[in-house]
Amino acid sequence: MIQKNIAELLNSEGLILQEVTLKGWVRTFRSNRFIALNDGSTIHNIQCVIDFENTDESILKRINTGASVSLQGTLTESNGKGQSLEVQVSKIEILGDSNPDEYPIQPKKHSFEFLRENAHLRVRTNTFSAVMRVRSKLSFAVHQYFQERDFNYVNTPIVTGSDAEGAGEMFRVTTFKENKAPLTEDGKIDFSKDFFGKETNLTVSGQLEAETFAMALGKAYTFGPTFRAENSNTTRHLAEFWMIEPEVAFMDLDGNMDLAEDFIKYVISYVIEKCEDDLAFLDQRLTQEDKSKPQAERSELSLLEKLRFVVDNNFKRVSYTEAIDILRNSKPNKKKKFKYPINEWGADLQSEHERFLVEKHFKCPVILFDYPADIKAFYMRLNDDGKTVRAMDVLFPGIGEIVGGSQREERYDVLVEKMKALDIDEKELWWYLDLRKYGTAVHSGFGLGFERLVQFTTGMSNIRDVIPFPRTPQNADF
Ligand code: 4AD
Ligand code: MG
Repeated sequence: MIQKNIAELLNSEGLILQEVTLKGWVRTFRSNRFIALNDGSTIHNIQCVIDFENTDESILKRINTGASVSLQGTLTESNGKGQSLEVQVSKIEILGDSNPDEYPIQPKKHSFEFLRENAHLRVRTNTFSAVMRVRSKLSFAVHQYFQERDFNYVNTPIVTGSDAEGAGEMFRVTTFKENKAPLTEDGKIDFSKDFFGKETNLTVSGQLEAETFAMALGKAYTFGPTFRAENSNTTRHLAEFWMIEPEVAFMDLDGNMDLAEDFIKYVISYVIEKCEDDLAFLDQRLTQEDKSKPQAERSELSLLEKLRFVVDNNFKRVSYTEAIDILRNSKPNKKKKFKYPINEWGADLQSEHERFLVEKHFKCPVILFDYPADIKAFYMRLNDDGKTVRAMDVLFPGIGEIVGGSQREERYDVLVEKMKALDIDEKELWWYLDLRKYGTAVHSGFGLGFERLVQFTTGMSNIRDVIPFPRTPQNADF
């Protein structure tokens, strides 16, 4: 008896006429005869043909959508449309029933909103199983890329005592009971009596700790969860998301841009190769979805064309200053179509501006660099002009910012000066300053939001649909 998953069986012409056993879930059952069986190994179902004359009525009644079954039978060539192999079932056992009147995932189209409310079951649908298989392969590709290049995987802390990164609002971690936090003499919460003896939060980024590894091991990367308590209810923001943060000693901003571009191309090429069926399905899904949109909002390229486009073309590198010139003179700016008009140098770019540059102006991924110091983090290296820093953001079609990074300020005095100006306590970041005191060196890194990458790769429009259980304002179900 041959036991293989459906993905393997569908690729094994050589097993024709062999006896096989299969376990999986019923997707549909029609004419009291044909089960479309799926076991999660592939987007494709295998057709299993029941000999209904010799099968108990009581069993036939239990073959419902969602039920788990074990089957034995002979693998044969199929005459059915669009399928090459099927199983002629000789024995069927119902492992777990599924009540057809109650099971939420009916064989019909469900809205993504409905499926979010049933996130524990949505991965049983074609779309979500495809997205989650692609997500899994992408994670593996991330590790493979860095491991092949001698980067060290570092697990930076999730509970952090430093909140100086300034990347976003933080979630506090405490063991104080509500209303029972001890107070100091001046009426503030006395964190010295809390679990860690100080105020602690969930991390917004592993960067600062990753820098300590880069300054010892040369090349390091993190890939872990990060948390931001921003009240942003958008299709691109989560309160809990996964971030990949490489950090490299002796690498400047140009090297950082090269690394980001090469890395993104690698992981996308990897899934183009490894997830052919899932991407073909997601490509069709997106094409269908596009048809329901007004002409102007439809995409010119299919999902697969977009992925190949990214892999095959150079990202356009443009300074912030050039970008501001382009935006200032752009049609939407002149016609006051931007929600945030661009009037002068120094303005922070909003997603509408980023998307204009990528989707309308350059029509390719863009790396913007050398941003005004005032709108970027304290640790970015100051340029000789005294007003811009060696920052870079990678901007993607449909997504906007997918990567944020920089060359780090490696000069002790300049960094201290900057921290003073921003009122960042030197005592709190003494260890970070030590990296500039002992054996400092040029170094750079970036952070890539993993869900934004999965969004781009799968063509899903809402970031909540590319993470198993999304955490967003007012929502931490499951
Ligand atoms: O630009 P950000 O805030 O950069 C940092 O945190 C740096 N410490 C990274 C570094 O240099 N090591 O965030 C990096 C990326 C963004 O470009 C975006 O892709 C993603 O993280 N990101 C989010 N993704 C989902 N939901 C959110 N709320 C996100 N905020 C940032
Ligand atoms: Mg950023």
